Amino acid sequence: MMTKKSTPASRASLILFLSQMIAALEVPLDLSQPPTITHQSPKNYIVDPRENIVIQCEAKGKPPPSFSWTRNGTHFDIDKDARVTVKPNSGTLVINIMNGGKAEAYEGIYQCTAKNERGAAISNNIVIRSSRSPLWTKEKIEPKHVREGDPLVLQCSPPVGLPPPIIFWMDNSFQRLPQNERVSQGLNGDLYFSNVKPQDTREDYICYARFNHTQTIQQKQPISVKVFSMDSLNETISANLSDTDFYSAKPLTERRPALLTPVGSTSTKVELRGNVLLLECIAEGL
Ligand SMILES: *[C@@H]1O[C@H](CO)[C@@H](O)[C@H](O)[C@H]1NC(C)=O
Ligand SMILES: *[C@@H]1O[C@H](CO)[C@@H](O)[C@H](O)[C@H]1NC(C)=O
Ligand SMILES: *[C@@H]1O[C@H](CO)[C@@H](O)[C@H](O)[C@H]1NC(C)=O
Ligand SMILES: *[C@@H]1O[C@H](CO)[C@@H](O)[C@H](O)[C@H]1NC(C)=O
Repeated sequence: MMTKKSTPASRASLILFLSQMIAALEVPLDLSQPPTITHQSPKNYIVDPRENIVIQCEAKGKPPPSFSWTRNGTHFDIDKDARVTVKPNSGTLVINIMNGGKAEAYEGIYQCTAKNERGAAISNNIVIRSSRSPLWTKEKIEPKHVREGDPLVLQCSPPVGLPPPIIFWMDNSFQRLPQNERVSQGLNGDLYFSNVKPQDTREDYICYARFNHTQTIQQKQPISVKVFSMDSLNETISANLSDTDFYSAKPLTERRPALLTPVGSTSTKVELRGNVLLLECIAEGL
């Protein structure tokens, strides 16, 4: 660094220079700035069909940016749709689906652009989908008669909802059915028994599906399970067994484990980047 004896003149020019520098530092606050997005809806946005749809897009910039939207890749003309309004000083869309509107009609890929004389900023693609909680198809479920020690899978097969429902098994008085190393629930909601015991006998295995978004719970028809043991083969129950079942009935013996899921010697699982990948392994055995 160079040093120099300062004369009054050079000191004065230094002060002038410094004060210009300070002014220069303050200037950017008044300068124009290109827009930047400050708030936007999530990339995958599942909306409640009973509520207005709010698609967020906020941006700052100088001068304040103006906003425009595309839907499914083409310009979305907000003025042409009476249900759509834009929040003041922002790009956020409010779609009024009360009074006969349908959230499904607004499903699609949305993207917001904030623009001013300095440039433009673009939001993520925001995929809007309406949540769904379809009803369980009515079905008649045959009671399950199982030999003690045998494996058993009770199928849940919930209706395909968006987002997928949360599955749990309870009895008809809303008590959770016990799960342990022998009894477990699969990712698809099915209930797996590695081997059944007489105490698994009950009339009311009920699979429930809770649809989080619509806050509804649906239940499948109860499944009845009757476990019979060879020691105390009861005539009432044995009367209901087919001949093959009856004659193949063997005393309880241990057996090596086998996989209930995944099935086959290889299996494939595909998951989207950024999501959690779950690899499932459920075995039966005694
Ligand atoms: C946008 O595209 C999706 C998927 O192809 C379609 O289901 C939806 O109806 C479209 N939305 C509009 C408003 O055209
Ligand atoms: C259920 O919905 C609420 C908000 O409605 C959310 O905070 C919560 O994470 C959701 N739970 C699950 C398991 O999806
Ligand atoms: C046989 O089973 C029936 C019905 O489960 C029961 O009522 C009966 O007491 C049983 N009989 C014997 C001998 O265990
Ligand atoms: C046997 O089957 C009959 C008719 O199929 C049914 O009514 C009865 O409840 C069954 N008994 C047992 C013990 O499952």
